Amino acid sequence: MLLTSLLSALSISSVFSLTVPSSNEWVKRETLAEAAHNARDLVKDVKTGTMASVYPESSDFAGRPFAMMEYHAPCYSNGSLALILMPISRSTQNIFQDPGHHIAYTVSMPTEGIKSPMSRGRVALMGNVTTLRNLSREDEAELSSCYTKYHPDAKSWIPGNKDSPHFSIWARLDIDRIYYVGGFGDIHYIGPIPVDLYAKSEKKVQENYEDSEEVFEDDLDQIVF
Ligand SMILES: *[C@@H]1O[C@H](CO)[C@@H](O)[C@H](O)[C@H]1NC(C)=O
Ligand SMILES: *[C@@H]1O[C@H](CO)[C@@H](O)[C@H](O)[C@H]1NC(C)=O
Ligand SMILES: *[C@@H]1O[C@H](CO)[C@@H](O)[C@H](O)[C@H]1NC(C)=O
Repeated sequence: MLLTSLLSALSISSVFSLTVPSSNEWVKRETLAEAAHNARDLVKDVKTGTMASVYPESSDFAGRPFAMMEYHAPCYSNGSLALILMPISRSTQNIFQDPGHHIAYTVSMPTEGIKSPMSRGRVALMGNVTTLRNLSREDEAELSSCYTKYHPDAKSWIPGNKDSPHFSIWARLDIDRIYYVGGFGDIHYIGPIPVDLYAKSEKKVQENYEDSEEVFEDDLDQIVF
């Protein structure tokens, strides 16, 4: 397994060295701890993402993926995301009908005006969605205020708003797996980010984070370019 890990690591660097100018060689590569913090910043700076869900067994498209732009709000210090679900939406229907309520949610840096959009960071947050049906008044007010800080336009469809054109409900994405691509691999981190590191990387870069070699090699084996 070590050998295949090495081989996949080698093939990654060779893929990227083809596309990156050699003048970048002296640049220090983004560390895992920096990547975790950069991913948190990305999710805070960019206010929309792509939500991927899977069509349920009952559907003609059972098992096939579906992805659509969505809003998120980084309202939890450990990296969980606040969402508003609307039962009218295909993504919400897929989530409700999946027993594990699983999604992947990808946030990407803007690419307008960028010569090579592949050089830009993106992160896929995988996990499950829990609906928040019985929030206290205080928690609900706090969530509304956080969410509308990121999405002022969402005031009109916030859960509980009687003028909302559609029924909506608060939900939270809890993350159990993260895959990050910082940009080109010679100066950016590419690979899994441990969820516990991500959870504590909101404010500053964690120094001396020791990742678990085992988890890491398993994940590298699965990288296919
Ligand atoms: C983050 O907080 C939420 C809400 O308390 C919890 O459900 C979730 O498991 C936490 N995630 C991590 C990675 O600690
Ligand atoms: C999400 O996953 C956690 C951990 O696997 C589990 O305890 C929880 O019940 C799941 N939530 C939903 C809504 O399926
Ligand atoms: C909702 O929360 C209140 C107090 O916060 C509690 O008394 C009530 O039993 C809860 N209802 C449900 C359905 O969980």
